[in-house]
Amino acid sequence: MKQNRRAFLQSAPALFLGGAFYHQTNKLQLHALPEEGIDSAAYWKMLRKHFPLRNDLVYLNNGTMGPSPYYVIEQTQQGMLEADEDANYGGWENTHQQLAAFIGADETEIALTRNVTEGINIICNGLSLTKGDEVIITTHEHGGNAFPWLNIARNKGVILRTFTPAPTADETLNRLEACISKRTKVIAVPHILCTQGQILPIKEISALGKRNQLFVFIDGAHGPGMVKLNMKELGCDAYATCCHKWMLGPKGTGFLYINKNAFEKVQPIFVGAGSDNAKWTMATQPPTMGDFAPSAHRYYAGTFNAGLYKGVIAALQFIESVGEERWIKRIETLGNYTQQQLLNTDKVEMLTPVEQKSRSGVIGFRIKGINSTSFYELASKQRIRIRQVHENGLNSLRVSTHIYNHTSEVDKLIELIKKS
Ligand SMILES: Cc1ncc(COP(=O)(O)O)c(C=O)c1O
Repeated sequence: MKQNRRAFLQSAPALFLGGAFYHQTNKLQLHALPEEGIDSAAYWKMLRKHFPLRNDLVYLNNGTMGPSPYYVIEQTQQGMLEADEDANYGGWENTHQQLAAFIGADETEIALTRNVTEGINIICNGLSLTKGDEVIITTHEHGGNAFPWLNIARNKGVILRTFTPAPTADETLNRLEACISKRTKVIAVPHILCTQGQILPIKEISALGKRNQLFVFIDGAHGPGMVKLNMKELGCDAYATCCHKWMLGPKGTGFLYINKNAFEKVQPIFVGAGSDNAKWTMATQPPTMGDFAPSAHRYYAGTFNAGLYKGVIAALQFIESVGEERWIKRIETLGNYTQQQLLNTDKVEMLTPVEQKSRSGVIGFRIKGINSTSFYELASKQRIRIRQVHENGLNSLRVSTHIYNHTSEVDKLIELIKKS
């Protein structure tokens, strides 16, 4: 059996990852990350070897999908293999505890999901909103947060009040506050705008929501792995996110934080085995339901893929092995570098605020005199992967960098902009 497993692990990665390069680099174990010279360019160059990401690809689109390191991929594969070797059911049950610790929440406040969108739908369908109730949302939403609320607006007659984030956190807060009316029930905004990487002042937004007795929901797609999180400090009622962007975890894994004081406000809609408190039976007349689980497990149910969740734990271990502070600093440094280099060209209209606390690893801009689609296509031909932002009529471009990137990759993009 052991031999079979080895044979599988040697052949399967070759299938998925293209062979020789993988076999060469998978010898780099997690504990091989050096302690010395850890902030040097050499360190970050070495770290890139932990990723299957091809070297001929300048990948500047982490905001869409974070490529996993080999360690995460291996652990995911191994988790799947182990589950099938012994035909065991389960293996994901403790993931929520580690995710809770990572974002400063209580373990009872985490629901596992497949992605951010699922978490958003749990909240917006679970809140008891009625005709004429108002929800405050930005003009910079991703479809994942826009469409569920638009759907609620259509189905229930809820009114969406929009505001455009301003270049400073203070002014953004003022604009949001100006949208509050007697009929406002919910604030549903992103932590970090997918369009231009702007960090919204969530702590202050939560405090504002609390003063006005509003439910504060945060689309946190770009939060964990990008910025240090502590849910108790942020103070929101709910925060939906994923592991497949900035945490560099397996694709199709996410989680939703719901403050336990908010359980009563969010009705579980999508329920089943696991959402209950083990008191249900069909053997009584009439059948007995019992109640929901006393934790956020009331919001999710059924079977999960143990391998994917072993991969999520591996992603947390990988972050820890680099050091969360150093990881976040690296993202910040590359984001600052990208913005500065873009500004230096004099060819761009910068959309991301220059205010330090509002800026992240995602930078949005337009190139003066060049259509965004044309530049996007030109960059793609040069194997430079960025993102076009067509949402909300913005017609702009977005660059997002992570720890596996190097400044020389940003420089390639800048050269192309200068030549265009
Ligand atoms: C701000 C934001 N919200 C929601 C989503 C949807 O995420 P998912 O595909 O994990 O549901 C994204 C994806 O890019 C996003 O950027």
